Amino acid sequence: MTTPIIEIENMTKTYQLGGDVVHVLSNVSLRIEKGDFLAIVGPSGSGKSTFMNMLGCLDRPDSGSYFLDGREIARLNDNELAVIRNEKIGFIFQNFYLLPRLTALENVELPLLYRGVKTKERQKKAYECLEQVGLLERAHHLPSQLSGGQQQRVAIARALVGNPPILLADEPTGALDSKTSQEIINIMKGLNEQGHTIIIITHDWEVAKQAKRIVRIQDGHLFESRGDLVGISSVD
Ligand SMILES: Nc1ncnc2c1ncn2[C@@H]1O[C@H](COP(=O)(O)OP(=O)(O)OP(=O)(O)O)[C@@H](O)[C@H]1O
Ligand SMILES: [Mg+2]
Repeated sequence: MTTPIIEIENMTKTYQLGGDVVHVLSNVSLRIEKGDFLAIVGPSGSGKSTFMNMLGCLDRPDSGSYFLDGREIARLNDNELAVIRNEKIGFIFQNFYLLPRLTALENVELPLLYRGVKTKERQKKAYECLEQVGLLERAHHLPSQLSGGQQQRVAIARALVGNPPILLADEPTGALDSKTSQEIINIMKGLNEQGHTIIIITHDWEVAKQAKRIVRIQDGHLFESRGDLVGISSVD
């Protein structure tokens, strides 16, 4: 059996809210193989973004183990964690989070700037990634001069530029109409075919059912379902 790219066992996460303890994740386990394409669904407030923050090493669980590409995350200090995160994971968010004063090209270059890559190499890679998402001719536009779908494509190029094996997307189509949403999903499917492992959090059943696996979060637990087999027709 091959080593999974992500292996989580008995992960727990609680938040303190006033005097109350909120159990967001209770003993959650999940194994994700290289090349998987996963949709994570569940009602609002069920813990999808919390779980994504754990998967993306943006936050630490209270307990449980997390192996990311064979490395145990709990053993790493914050600096080591930042390095692993930068290497292994590209993030895509609902509201794109592009820097407004930078052009599309400069936004895509950013992760490489943080890695200390020289200007010429940075630009070459950034142009390649913009081409991959079909946006080469908009390279010198500012985010405000781009449509929502185009901004999300820039954000995907930025997530790709460091060539991370995993792409983690929290509601990547949440701010887009259905046609543009499908264009973004098609790009992600193409990246999955090229070998990227993709994890998408979504409220949109049309998006979820295109994934290879569907995992639902509810009441602190994960349930895996093949929606097409069990007749699920909504994500909430
Ligand atoms: N920092 C925090 N402190 C306290 N409670 C929190 C914190 N972050 C999230 N929560 C609570 O944890 C639960 C899960 O939140 P989370 O953002 O993961 O939900 P979600 O499934 O992503 O929801 P949505 O679909 O609305 O984005 C919610 O009840 C939320 O109020
Ligand atoms: Mg959320």
